[in-house]
Amino acid sequence: MDNRLFFSATQRNRDCIGDVLSKIIKKGSVLEIGSGSGEHGVVFQKRFPEIIWQTSDPDLLHRKSIISWIEYEELNQKMPEPLDLNVEKVPWNLPLKLANSLQGIVSINMIHVAKWNCTIELFRGAGKLLKEGQFLFLYGPFKICNSHTSKSNYFFDNSIKMKNDLWGIRNLEEVCDEAKKNGFIHENIITMPANNFSIIYKKVSIK
Ligand SMILES: C[S@@+](CC[C@H](N)C(=O)[O-])C[C@H]1O[C@@H](n2cnc3c(N)ncnc32)[C@H](O)[C@@H]1O
Repeated sequence: MDNRLFFSATQRNRDCIGDVLSKIIKKGSVLEIGSGSGEHGVVFQKRFPEIIWQTSDPDLLHRKSIISWIEYEELNQKMPEPLDLNVEKVPWNLPLKLANSLQGIVSINMIHVAKWNCTIELFRGAGKLLKEGQFLFLYGPFKICNSHTSKSNYFFDNSIKMKNDLWGIRNLEEVCDEAKKNGFIHENIITMPANNFSIIYKKVSIK
């Protein structure tokens, strides 16, 4: 059965996100948290054939979509099935093979459509799993010094808060504070199209 979902933003942002990832991805496995439809997962698996891209999502419909995308792109031999991973359900219990080969964690457009505790748990979990020099990559809209970087982000923030008042565009400084608490520094902050940012955190100390 074809359960593929189509998230329109992925068409627009996958190439520029891939360009940033190409500078940090080496060998091993990458864990994607909040993979959504799975469109990013298959695109990045094809773009970076030397690695294993491990998708995950707590939403069953999204995991079904990811499985369908993997089948559609004939990547079954390469890509594992998505994990049912909710950052708030700790410990994350990753397969040993993945934990041992992990080189980084990627989360795209997740933290503003989840409660603030998900940001806290994302860094806590990543801080436990990743070793010195490994990366945590975030992509999405952020506030800087508690201000929106564009009018469209202000309207977008209001629209997601109407759906769930615990959601909202996060303040970059507070996100970086959580990173620091868990042994990460922000190595690079890259301005992306459509008022988004790529943030590359690097693990610098053992937690
Ligand atoms: C806006 S979608 C983004 C999906 C995909 N990364 C993309 O860019 O198209 C946010 C995703 O985060 C997932 N998510 C929400 N809460 C989560 C949590 N607590 N732990 C992990 N993922 C979560 C949702 O199920 C959803 O797939």
